[in-house]
Amino acid sequence: MASIRETWDSRTAFVLAAIGSAIGLGNIWRFPYVTYENGGGAFLVAYFICLFLAGIPLLMLEFSIGHKFQQAAPGSFKKITPRLEWFGWFAAGVGFIIVTYYAIIMAWSVNYTYEAATLGWEQEEGVYADAQYAIAETDLADMDVLTAIPDSLIGRSFVSPVTAQNCVICADPPQGSDGYGTILVAFGGYLYGFNTVGDANAFMGSPGDFFFNDFLGVTSSPWDIGDFKWPLFIGFSLAWIWIVASVWKGTKTVSKVVYFTVIIPWVLLLVFVIRGLALPGSGKGLEFYLTPVWSNLMSGKLWLAAISQVFFSLSVGFAIMIAYGSFLPKKTNIAANAIIIGLADTITAFFGGMAVFSALGHHADSLGVPVSQVVSSGPGLAFVAYPHIITQLPGARIFGVLFFLMLLTLAVDSAFSLLEAVTAAVKDKWKTSHRKANLIVGGLAFLLGIPMLTGMGIHILDIADHFMNSFGLTLVVLGEVLIIGWGTGAEEQRQYINRNSSFSIGIWWNVCIRWIIPMGILWMIFSEIQDRAVPYGSFGVRSQEFLFGWLLIILLPIVSDLLASSRGRGEGL
Ligand code: PHE
Repeated sequence: MASIRETWDSRTAFVLAAIGSAIGLGNIWRFPYVTYENGGGAFLVAYFICLFLAGIPLLMLEFSIGHKFQQAAPGSFKKITPRLEWFGWFAAGVGFIIVTYYAIIMAWSVNYTYEAATLGWEQEEGVYADAQYAIAETDLADMDVLTAIPDSLIGRSFVSPVTAQNCVICADPPQGSDGYGTILVAFGGYLYGFNTVGDANAFMGSPGDFFFNDFLGVTSSPWDIGDFKWPLFIGFSLAWIWIVASVWKGTKTVSKVVYFTVIIPWVLLLVFVIRGLALPGSGKGLEFYLTPVWSNLMSGKLWLAAISQVFFSLSVGFAIMIAYGSFLPKKTNIAANAIIIGLADTITAFFGGMAVFSALGHHADSLGVPVSQVVSSGPGLAFVAYPHIITQLPGARIFGVLFFLMLLTLAVDSAFSLLEAVTAAVKDKWKTSHRKANLIVGGLAFLLGIPMLTGMGIHILDIADHFMNSFGLTLVVLGEVLIIGWGTGAEEQRQYINRNSSFSIGIWWNVCIRWIIPMGILWMIFSEIQDRAVPYGSFGVRSQEFLFGWLLIILLPIVSDLLASSRGRGEGL
């Protein structure tokens, strides 16, 4: 039977779509911070090594699986052996959970585009710098003011919501500008320290307060629902309309959309790099970002951070690249495409770091503090630090709007790639029309996202994100390399890739797939269990809340198995 599977309009469309999936929030708010934290230039060296030994080989693997079997992840693994179909659904399930909260971050960005236009976050003169003295997690009511740190908090460690740094609360904090300050104020489940009453008051009206308190209405734990944020519901609906519309006719629509949603954020990123570099003090930030600490190359932590960032950033392990590979025409160039996509993603991340650190350098300079005091990552960077910096500069509104437009265009192709991966799987199995599959999957993800529009939203988001990226992704990648590398055979797959590429990849690929990647992953899983890396900042990740995360990880294979054993259209008994 001749294949009637839909295909990309052109090679460029496919490459852009895969790049669009890979570049995302991770390039802007995760990569710069992880680079800085792990020794700047030294981290870049490790990142490159992991990119070539793990990231690009995995892209080749995923593209070739999809291309060979002409099916999204579940169908592909089913063709390897029917007993493995559940594994494909597991991968699609990880992607599905991610899109439920990726759309929430898009919703924040939609609403912040409006806030930027009206400078809504700047209710009063904000003093962001003071917000970094978040000194403890607490159950105290918002706006409680204390004069001393309660004994019950001493010795506890937590991750500051603003700087995402690990802090331990000590009995006798140093006073003054480097210490916790003398005025303690509780809100959003955290206790903050300030040097003066004026600073404390200003903080109440600062962008940090605006984002966490007014905008999200963050509660102190995931068990406390808080208010439903209707304005966010509007942004959320718009975000979903955008996502679904982008894949309305499958690859046909995506092939056109990506020219805008990949090129626009690149142009905007360039604008922010140039603008950042032109600011006084930017050099200081870049120095922080890139100065290599070579001795870090000997530390396991750096390599772990590098390999996790490579996987996350390339969007491997989420069923996406298998689905995207399945839409490739017969004649294609798997190896070259994978290299182009891997490098484009890395260059984008590098520039993301330049934009972020030049602005942070300027900010630190104007406050007269070291850059280390103003660095942040995750939502704290995009929705608190950056807006604050932008507000201080000329052209605040226009640059604010452009910044959130950049975030949105970066995020949208990651979001629709996740949707498309699941939609394609549903279509393959039940032979539904694309539109129907799209509306069912998108509609379900939309409904599941609604609880995250409440005050507990960011807690749920953070836990789901942590578990999907630390365990979901790693288990999928591990499964893939074991199934192909050790099951059907790395050599056979390599030959397949070579038959469908303009140049041949050597035997090194087999070594990567069979040894290097599985060993890297086992090491990742092992250290994840010990200390929890937190991709999107850290909200309420306390032990009992991990139950929810574990529940996700346990339920996912069960649901996947049910989907695999349910009968698809046109399948025999
Ligand atoms: N690769 C994306 C980024 O760097 C993140 C992502 C992960 C997107 C998984 C889709 C799926 O931001």
